Amino acid sequence: MSWHDGFRDILTENRPLRDLTTWRMGGTARFFFEPRSIDETAQLLRVIAREGLSFLVLGGGANLLIDDGVHLSPIIHFSKLAEFEQHGGSVTAGAGRSFPRIVADTAQAGFEGCDVLAGIPGQMGGICAMNAGGRWGEIKDVVRKITFVDKDGEVGDLSRDAIGFRYRGTALPQGAIVRVDLELKPADDPGAPRRRVAEILKTKGAAQPLREPSGGCVFKNPPGDSTGKIVETLGLKGLRIGDAEVSTIHGNFIVNKGCARFDDMLEVMATIERRVFDSRGIRLEREVKIWRSGVGAVGLKG
Ligand code: EPU
Repeated sequence: MSWHDGFRDILTENRPLRDLTTWRMGGTARFFFEPRSIDETAQLLRVIAREGLSFLVLGGGANLLIDDGVHLSPIIHFSKLAEFEQHGGSVTAGAGRSFPRIVADTAQAGFEGCDVLAGIPGQMGGICAMNAGGRWGEIKDVVRKITFVDKDGEVGDLSRDAIGFRYRGTALPQGAIVRVDLELKPADDPGAPRRRVAEILKTKGAAQPLREPSGGCVFKNPPGDSTGKIVETLGLKGLRIGDAEVSTIHGNFIVNKGCARFDDMLEVMATIERRVFDSRGIRLEREVKIWRSGVGAVGLKG
């Protein structure tokens, strides 16, 4: 009898992760779970807590760099929690709902709020956990509440204020966002949100390397400055180690030219950090999350 026997229907063992990240990188998950409901998620987290394990939640795999090894911590993915409902400006979406689809659907329906987040990849849960955003807004501007399962399997709703949104993050403890409620505004001109989405996608298509696998912006912007611009000024665009290359289009993206290895990515990042610190005295902060195999897999019993 092993700890995961009760979850056979939702467990894939030794699941490759590469196709689940926008960087197209990552080793394998020893235990990969796709819960079908909030209750099932809560049950799973209770068992994981009982076993003394830590776990990871994989959203749309954007902004995430996963190492090439075998990841022993259970990984939870909400591909089966992807419901979507819209009544007027009130939207409810499962954590696994594709965010670009939400952007397209709500804009098509003539509602403002998500339209300004066009071009951001990921799933609803991850978008919220990262407080994803950019020049035109952040998800926190439209979140009304979330449903959250904490690390002990307790389910509860948290209002926007209780989430503690900050720049590219939240104050949430360990756990999983399983559902998100948004409040959008009807546009005066119902065609406007759709046009704004098209404009933003066009602008981003010219300024960002959207055709190549990447993790989006690698670093946060220093206050009042742009990391991409600094990297460009230092002549680091095009810097390449193995198949990891600083994009020639936007300096805050590192693209995978084919078979980039985790160590090559880290080395490109470290080079940028060193050069920016040496020349500007700025310590860049990483925006991307990094998952290392072997970290956190305490007390695993098979
Ligand atoms: N710039 C350069 N060279 C570059 C990149 C940018 O000179 O290689 C200049 C641009 O011309 C512009 C300024 O720097 O004058 C700012 O650039 P941009 O508008 O591209 O915005 P950003 O600050 O680099 C932020 C977000 C992006 C988001 C865009 C657009 C961060 C770290 N980045 O980028 O988010 O897509 O605004 O909304 O907050 C992400 O978070 O993964 C991401 C890509």
